[in-house]
Amino acid sequence: MGGLFGVAALVGLRCGLRAPGPGLLARTCSGGPTWTRERTLVAVKPDGVQRRLVGDVIQRFERRGFKLVGMKMLQAPESVLAEHYQDLKRKPFYPALISYMSSGPVVAMVWEGYNVVRASRAMIGHTDSAEAAPGTIRGDFSIHISRNIIHASDSVEGAQREIQLWFQSSELVNWADGGHQSSVYPA
Ligand code: PPS
Repeated sequence: MGGLFGVAALVGLRCGLRAPGPGLLARTCSGGPTWTRERTLVAVKPDGVQRRLVGDVIQRFERRGFKLVGMKMLQAPESVLAEHYQDLKRKPFYPALISYMSSGPVVAMVWEGYNVVRASRAMIGHTDSAEAAPGTIRGDFSIHISRNIIHASDSVEGAQREIQLWFQSSELVNWADGGHQSSVYPA
């Protein structure tokens, strides 16, 4: 491990790679890609797990070219849900939302890639399933706002906060991409 970390640290120093925190990862190596790599939190909600849609969600994100760097199934603790949805505490649907999110396991994931926050919001579709376009996850699988299958962070700052809430940094894996990156991103 120490050896691997040493190599990663060396590459990071040579290329100006920022410490791989839970949120953003940027490469500024001269001559190399200058894409800002974002990370976002995606969670398949209890209805998505019950309906066996986890594989479909993963497949969509992989096919789009994003990189999975963290994943776990868990029964979300109420403390985590309360913090996650802290801005919604005064909404009339808040108790029902917490009860729904506690009704079964969720699959929480961290995806990495260029503009992944904005792209994943487009991929999941409108919050209200009735408004969600066909081809989006909600537009394909959900018919009601209170059972809308999936969550994805709505901003880069929100993603950083949510990733830290749902994952320990040791649960995120900075794995090497092989040659795949060059097929996904222009040089
Ligand atoms: S709001 O009202 O504009 O702040 O809500 P919105 O940003 O669209 O959604 C925030 C999260 O609340 C969920 N939501 C609901 N859950 C249950 N019932 C109702 N009526 C409802 N309305 C919104 C919505 O799915 C969002 O959760 P996440 O986990 O981000 O998808």
